[in-house]
Amino acid sequence: MVAVSNMADLTVEDGVAVLTIDNPPVNALSAGVRVGLTEGVAMAAADDSVSAMVLICAGRTFIAGADITEFGGASTGPSLHDALTAMENCSKPIVAAIHGTALGGGLETALVCHYRVADAKARFGLPEVNLGLLPGAGGTQRLPRVVGVAKALEMVTSGVPIGSEEALASGLISEIVEDLRGGAIAFAKKVVAENRPLVRIRDQNEKIDEAKGKPELFAAIRKSIARKTRNFKAPEFNIQCIEAAVNSASFDEGLTVERSLFTELMTGEQSAAQRYFFFAERMAQKIPDVPKDTVEIPVNKVGVIGAGTMGGGISMNILNVGIPVTIIETKQEALDRGMAVIRKNYENTAKKGRISQQDVEDRMGLLTGSLNMEDLADCDMVIEAVFENMDLKKDIFGRLDKIVKQGAILASNTSALDVNEIASATTRPESVIGLHFFSPANVMKLLEIVRGDASSNEVIRTSMSFAKKIGKAAALVGVCPGFVGNRILAQRQYQAQKLIMEGAMPQDVDKVLFEFGLPMGPYQMSDLAGLDIGWDAEKSKGETIRDVLCEAGRRGQKTGAGYYDYDENRNHKPSAEVEKIILEFSEKSQNVRREIDEEEILARCIYPMINEGAKILDEGIAIRASDVDVVWVYGYGWPIYRGGPMHYADSIGLDKVLAKMKEYGELTGDAFWEPSPLLVKLAAEGKGFKDFAG
Ligand SMILES: NC(=O)c1ccc[n+]([C@@H]2O[C@H](COP(=O)([O-])OP(=O)(O)OC[C@H]3O[C@@H](n4cnc5c(N)ncnc54)[C@H](O)[C@@H]3O)[C@@H](O)[C@H]2O)c1
Repeated sequence: MVAVSNMADLTVEDGVAVLTIDNPPVNALSAGVRVGLTEGVAMAAADDSVSAMVLICAGRTFIAGADITEFGGASTGPSLHDALTAMENCSKPIVAAIHGTALGGGLETALVCHYRVADAKARFGLPEVNLGLLPGAGGTQRLPRVVGVAKALEMVTSGVPIGSEEALASGLISEIVEDLRGGAIAFAKKVVAENRPLVRIRDQNEKIDEAKGKPELFAAIRKSIARKTRNFKAPEFNIQCIEAAVNSASFDEGLTVERSLFTELMTGEQSAAQRYFFFAERMAQKIPDVPKDTVEIPVNKVGVIGAGTMGGGISMNILNVGIPVTIIETKQEALDRGMAVIRKNYENTAKKGRISQQDVEDRMGLLTGSLNMEDLADCDMVIEAVFENMDLKKDIFGRLDKIVKQGAILASNTSALDVNEIASATTRPESVIGLHFFSPANVMKLLEIVRGDASSNEVIRTSMSFAKKIGKAAALVGVCPGFVGNRILAQRQYQAQKLIMEGAMPQDVDKVLFEFGLPMGPYQMSDLAGLDIGWDAEKSKGETIRDVLCEAGRRGQKTGAGYYDYDENRNHKPSAEVEKIILEFSEKSQNVRREIDEEEILARCIYPMINEGAKILDEGIAIRASDVDVVWVYGYGWPIYRGGPMHYADSIGLDKVLAKMKEYGELTGDAFWEPSPLLVKLAAEGKGFKDFAG
């Protein structure tokens, strides 16, 4: 065995050189790997006793992608492009032996090999689009030449990998082998013995020729992803690369297009934000004062109290991963309704083919309904999701304290209430924590975990792991009204209300925020949630626009009218009635209405969110700015290509944010615009929120 680099070695077995890459944990394409590939190929080529080469990886996977830590920095050693060119031009056949995941640069490396074999569980994909990029080492030019244009388009725009069977059927691999190393060597010998040609994918034009003169292929994919990828650059650029593969005069011409679009993405703001967010999500797992080796509480049975909107969705997350749930209601009717909704949701998913009918039955089989809280005695975790009322929640926690076994986690799904006060209703506040799911709870990825003053390390650590287990992204936050997400949201809502009193209409405000990239603006969001959340019909005296709308029965989408009018398909259109009400309120408040431009709408909605984020950091409610961004991307649909409000602020420059805060403070004379001391300090030091370290 010869060491080729610090990450690769070469052995020769029976005339086949076996180049083994070993760069744990995922054999990323670091400099040492690129040296290994280049030198390994050169050594095999120069060795007369060698007639073919196998490229294989040690550890749990084939090359799983680029070394993302090298992004944006100076890299050493040969470029990936040079390494791949050397491989493709090798005069002896190279066989890639693939296990685990061949992703991104890993798949591109496999695509310059002359043949590929894999084990049955291997997966193949080009997920660059998820980081706002495209495969920049020939992937967009070679993949369609192997699997065909339609499949390649699907793979590069979704980033979703395919398995071995599909890879075999599409021609991406030649064989599925059981013993990877032995099978690959045997395959290499066969190639030599049968004198098979050196297949250079770059020269294979059959499958791309089939797509020539068929623009409908590209139109179809653009249409199918339009909604999901609104405002994103990378999916469109990936498509353009494959168009270039089909329409260019030569492979190299297509490669030039790929290189140029790749560079534009790599140096652009969207990918920078998406790569930032990739790390933000991982960073959020790290809790400085909770040791990693903290013992976790096994969670094998969960209780959920309340089978309403949230309780049902929360239960589904848990059933989905095979954990039994007991759900509690006060009345049989409410229980039946809640359980029927869960079943209906599963049935709908089955109808779409995403789960089987057996899955529906298995999951429902894990669900038990009850009207008796005593049935929660042996649960390891109980999540309360009853009405947002402190007295009710305290009553429930007092009862849980007497019923549920010691050591279990007692969690509340409250949106904004004081978790410490809820914990005070028990004799074991160390077991109490907030688990704030977002609506719809079976869909939204965020779980805001709210640590109380007394929450134990075990309870915090277990909650973080539990989030991961049920497929949520967790952010640990402290207690304050609204926690991180809703507290920041409140600032935006306040300004949105001011804007309609001063001259804008709901549709003007919503348009700006939608175009910014949010899934909807504040008024559409209110209509979706229901205007009557927290509204009291008995106490309402028509003092606010919302009071008047609710009193008039305009309570949001569910009543067919709210800030907007809705048709039977829930399509919205501006409402003359609402505009009239707004004008009357404006007049009563003696506001002189004025034209408010889009720039002002955006600034007045977004900058107060950033300012509130700064206060949250200063108060230690969030551990780091990137955690705030995780909350906003996964809880509220902040566009990931803008990183989150705190990253967005850093990308604009905090001095500019501060200047705007001051400008609107002067314009409106409202103390609301008082900048957070942290914002002032960081701006004065020329720093960003990324530099804040508690
Ligand atoms: N809806 C949202 O968007 C959302 C988002 C995050 C958090 N939350 C929070 O989740 C909680 C529940 O909200 P929701 O929207 O699901 O409300 P909901 O009205 O849809 O459901 C509440 C359910 O709790 C039941 N309930 C009331 N008292 C009970 C008791 N003593 N024992 C058992 N069941 C009881 C009710 O019958 C009802 O079915 C609230 O604290 C809310 O603030 C809501």
